[in-house]
Amino acid sequence: MPAVQWFPGHMNSARRAFAKALAAVDVVIEVTDARLPGASGNPMIEELRRFRNRPCLKLLNKADLADPEATREWMAYYNAQPDVLAVAVSAKSSSDVGRIPALARQLAPHRSGAEKPLRMILAGIPNVGKSTLMNALLKRRVAKVGDEPAVTKSQQTLDLGPGMTLTDTPGLMWPKIEHDADGFMLAASHAIGRNAVIDEEVAVNLGTILLARYPALIEARYRIEAAGQDGEGLLEHIARRRGCIRKGGGLDLEKAANVFLTDYRTGALGRISLETPESRQRMLAATAMFSPL
Ligand code: G4P
Repeated sequence: MPAVQWFPGHMNSARRAFAKALAAVDVVIEVTDARLPGASGNPMIEELRRFRNRPCLKLLNKADLADPEATREWMAYYNAQPDVLAVAVSAKSSSDVGRIPALARQLAPHRSGAEKPLRMILAGIPNVGKSTLMNALLKRRVAKVGDEPAVTKSQQTLDLGPGMTLTDTPGLMWPKIEHDADGFMLAASHAIGRNAVIDEEVAVNLGTILLARYPALIEARYRIEAAGQDGEGLLEHIARRRGCIRKGGGLDLEKAANVFLTDYRTGALGRISLETPESRQRMLAATAMFSPL
């Protein structure tokens, strides 16, 4: 069983609510985190929208924090899929947000005017930026924005302008995280509640990924030789460098983990993507190889 598990009881009701809402919408706007679009996508959203034949505007949000090259690869990957239009956005950029209604229209050109408004639903796992986006789309605060997962709880439909409505869904997380790698990436990116995971383990895992993918960024930030280093060694180095020492002496690795995770989450390390379509394929193939039949 994966080390990181999260199974909130409201998932089944969220699934039912989403399936029901889908019947009355034309376009699904799925928000993912551009730094980990595969891991932060929700298979349940994908499954239900395909079942209902609803096109998807896939927003790779927080693109301002992600590696532009990896984001290009992800967009090409998604845009090759039928009924999917993928774009990289930052919900904090009003010009990016301003493009969204027209893009959604492209996916359902038959819906126009007051008689047949374009009906959209906004969906995605917690903390990918749905509330921020909703607020920006509505240009007024309708939801509490915060870096704690699952702030948006109830469902609401709002007029987005002439001939357009937007339904908000509760933060959707899939019932079971199937791969450890996804659990760690999601925890590092704060899509999983703080109580559900151990920061130290998440930080070691993040360190392993970043040492392999972005050694120069790690070297620049923490003044360490990346070659030959591993996630644990990096965390110990950060603890020493940042004076994370326990009262009785010894390294405070939990504190160091916090420093490291905050650096990643705030973009202080630079623009980073934790996965590419290729690395995800490799991870899935390796998992399949080692899974019991
Ligand atoms: P949710 O509804 O999907 O759960 O996500 P929410 O909008 O609450 O956003 C979660 C965090 O992600 C917030 O950070 C929000 O500001 C940040 N965020 C959302 N979209 C973007 C984006 O495009 N780029 C960046 N860099 N951040 C984004 P927070 O910790 O509450 O901080 P603050 O920025 O609100 O102070």
